[in-house]
Amino acid sequence: MSVNNGTRPTVASFFSGIGGFDLGFQRARFKVTFQCEIDSFCNQILQKHWPDIPRAKNMREITNANVPLSDVWVGGFPCQDVSLARMAPRPGLKGKQSRLFHEFARLIGEGRPRVFLIENVPGLRSSHGGRDFQIIIQTLAELGYGVGWRVLNSKYFGVPQSRQRIYIVGCYRDGRGPAEILFESERRTRNDEKNGSDGKEAVSPFKKVVGNSRKGPVTPALAYCLYACSARHTGTDWSRNYVSYPDGRVRRYLAVECERIQGFPDNWTLPSDPPDDADKLDSLRYQTLGNAVTVNVAEWLARRITRYLLKPGTANAAVHLNGTAHTNGAAGPLNGAAQSIASARSLRNLGWGRLEGSPGKR
Ligand SMILES: C[S@@+](CC[C@H](N)C(=O)[O-])C[C@H]1O[C@@H](n2cnc3c(N)ncnc32)[C@H](O)[C@@H]1O
Repeated sequence: MSVNNGTRPTVASFFSGIGGFDLGFQRARFKVTFQCEIDSFCNQILQKHWPDIPRAKNMREITNANVPLSDVWVGGFPCQDVSLARMAPRPGLKGKQSRLFHEFARLIGEGRPRVFLIENVPGLRSSHGGRDFQIIIQTLAELGYGVGWRVLNSKYFGVPQSRQRIYIVGCYRDGRGPAEILFESERRTRNDEKNGSDGKEAVSPFKKVVGNSRKGPVTPALAYCLYACSARHTGTDWSRNYVSYPDGRVRRYLAVECERIQGFPDNWTLPSDPPDDADKLDSLRYQTLGNAVTVNVAEWLARRITRYLLKPGTANAAVHLNGTAHTNGAAGPLNGAAQSIASARSLRNLGWGRLEGSPGKR
């Protein structure tokens, strides 16, 4: 583990997409060591922003030997099979895409990173009546991890988008770590009394608009959750997010506006060598931005993880089985030496799941 000896902590990214996790962690001073992404457009974007790091294509084909030693592993496996946005019945964890969770779990079992962070849609909790979620938590706990989760909404992290996602954190041989990372003991009260989604004065933010409808375009002050969709999509997803003009015309958000409400810099998803077909390019940008992690949320979690790694007693407890158990600097006992490996049952008893939370309005 590198945090305490002045060097940057490291993060390896899986199902990297356009690098939402990677950028958030980088903003929190992490060095990105590795990426794995199968989609060719995403790979162009990753190559543009991280030209010099090793990158693999298929989760099914890599082993831990491909992954450089890293303090933290992050990844959001594909969510289509568990998402409530799906019109058809959800195949759940057995679906072709979501089955990839097991590939990530296999790698975690081989590599045993100190901390892992997984992102997915909140529907993960209810797929197959909760059985899929139980399998996920149990699988990770059986690998030796204390596991916790929390649903966070991007709107509390400085972007104008209501986007709820579940974040699952695992800490190797540490049953308390996930709660320390995910929940702020420094919060004064559980919920803000006056406003917020569960406050007394909660008002639908979608009713508020920005702009003057007589003089120019108006747009909702807070966007609905962005979904992956094409530039020609006319369904219910994107059409909820629109800008309307005084003469009655409406338009969907531009790709650059989607970048902004996901916390990316402008033109992040513009490849170095863009295709000639503008519609095709827009579709690729909407699609990948709809799939991405909000960068601000990733950054907040990265800072919480750094704090956890720096805590006395944990900072040198790097465990990475790239062939051998590994420690840097003054090797101490594993943080969990005095604590038992959390089992799925003990996790349930600890009751660390939480449905929704915010770190306060920011
Ligand atoms: C939910 S998205 C993750 C988005 C990412 N967190 C971001 O911020 O952009 C899931 C990603 O997994 C990728 N993926 C699907 N199958 C894969 C595989 N077998 N190996 C590697 N990546 C895969 C998809 O192309 C997609 O970009």
